[in-house]
Formats: sequence, C-alpha cells, structure tokens
Amino acid sequence: MKDSIPELRQALEESVPVVALTGAGISAESGVPTFRGANGLWRNFPPEKLATPEAFAENPRLVWEWYDWRRSMIREARPNAGHLALVELERRKTAQGATAFTLVTQNVDGLHDRAGNRNTVKLHGDLWLVRCTGCGAVERNEEVPLRRLPPHCRCGALLRPGVVWFGEPLPPDAWERAARASASARIFLVIGTSAVVYPAAGLAREAREAGARLAIVNPEPTPLDPMADWVLRGPSGEILPRLL
Ligand code: OAD
Repeated sequence: MKDSIPELRQALEESVPVVALTGAGISAESGVPTFRGANGLWRNFPPEKLATPEAFAENPRLVWEWYDWRRSMIREARPNAGHLALVELERRKTAQGATAFTLVTQNVDGLHDRAGNRNTVKLHGDLWLVRCTGCGAVERNEEVPLRRLPPHCRCGALLRPGVVWFGEPLPPDAWERAARASASARIFLVIGTSAVVYPAAGLAREAREAGARLAIVNPEPTPLDPMADWVLRGPSGEILPRLL
C-alpha cells in the first residue's frame, strides 16, 4: 500500500475520469460534527434514531429540532481548504472533458455548493430543501432558526427535510449518475467517510472492481483501506490542497 502524495498527484493529473466520494469528515474542519465522531451526538441520540421515517412519524418536532440545530450550526460554517481543493480539481479536470470529474457526496450540508463545485451528485439530499408530506412540493428553505417547529406547507401538511433517511431509497437520478461515473472511473477518491453506510460506500468497491485505482483520505482507518492503492492518513483540509 502506497501513501505517496506526489505519486497520487501525478496519477490525478494523468487519469480521466476521476470520481470523488465525500462524507461528513470533509466538513469537520469547518466545525460541522461528523455523525459517528465524538461530538456528533445531539442530546445523546445516535443518527440512526433520528434520521428515519419512523422517528419522524413518531415525533416530527423532535426530528425537526435536530435538523434546526444542524442547520443553525452549518449556516455559521464556512467551506474549508478541503472543499476548495475539490473546486480546483473540478476546474482542472473539466478542462480535460465534460465527464472527466464527478463529485459525489453523502453530505447534506451544502458546503460543496458554497465552495463553488457546480456539478455535485447529492446522494443523501440537501438539508436546505424541504418537501411537503402532503402535496409533495419541494422548495428551498434557509430559515434559521425555524419560526415554527415542526414547519408546515402552505397546503397545511407537515414539511420534512429534503434528505434521505435510513431505510429510504436514494434519489434514482443521483444514484444512476453516481453509479455510471463510478463504473468508468480511473481514479476514485474516498474522502472523509467512515464508508459503513450503503449503498454509497459500495460505489468505491464497484469502481475498484471495474478497474479504478482507489485513494482514501481520512485520519482514521476505514473498511476500504485494505483494497486501496493509496491511503493518505490525515485531515482532508491538509491533504487535499497538497494533492493539487
Ligand atoms: P461518519 O460520521 O460516519 O464518518 C466521518 C468520517 O470522517 C470518519 O471516518 C472520520 O475518521 C473522518 N474524519 C474526521 N475528521 C476528518 C477530517 N478532518 N478530514 C477527513 N476525514 C475526517 O460520516 P459519513 O461517512 O458521512 O446518512 O456517514 C455516512 C452517512 O451516515 C451520512 O451521510 C448520514 C449518516 O448517518 C444519512 O443521513 C442517510
């Protein structure tokens, strides 16, 4: 297993297409707690107890309070050097061809958008979107804190966050784009994700099986490390700028 930054830098320059899959860890240096990290718990609830249709059906106010807390925190956060490096990677690779780079994220925080990435596949939705449980309307909502908890649609029904919860299918169009890009990737970067939540983590395995070289950027070990060509141990806000 190699950990050489210059070698991966060169491989990134020479290879197309490149896919990057990000998780909560890329936003850690912006001050956003990860899900499975030390300060990721809100009122001692693990995310699997809140991010589910069952939790929402049982106590929509509680689930919305959690999202309201996360939205308030994320509103104050700024994209970090890791996010900005991926904007630069997108700029350089798209100069080599329209399909030369795909950013796939599990994050719902919108920090890739705010950093400037323009073509991000959001596998788990977007925390700044709300969807009506009655009429199905989807709209952008950036009210922080929310005036009314839980919020309601103009049609009178309850609104829900525009995100994917445990047990729900991923948005088919996002999944299809991510799977297609992964299947043809020559280099697949796995950045700041514990890689334990499927199907997202499966993209890296499928890319590897289809011939991509795999690089992991994470301060901690992940289950994908044994199959990786490069394991870069450290915070993405330090490693990614050094790669570019
Ligand atoms: P996790 O909280 O599971 O994992 C965060 C990862 O980031 C860990 O592997 C950390 O070691 C790593 N990390 C921490 N600080 C970092 C830094 N500065 N730079 C790089 N990496 C760092 O978050 P996800 O893998 O994103 O799903 O979780 C996957 C999904 O599970 C989420 O999208 C969410 C969650 O519950 C849903 O809500 C459906």
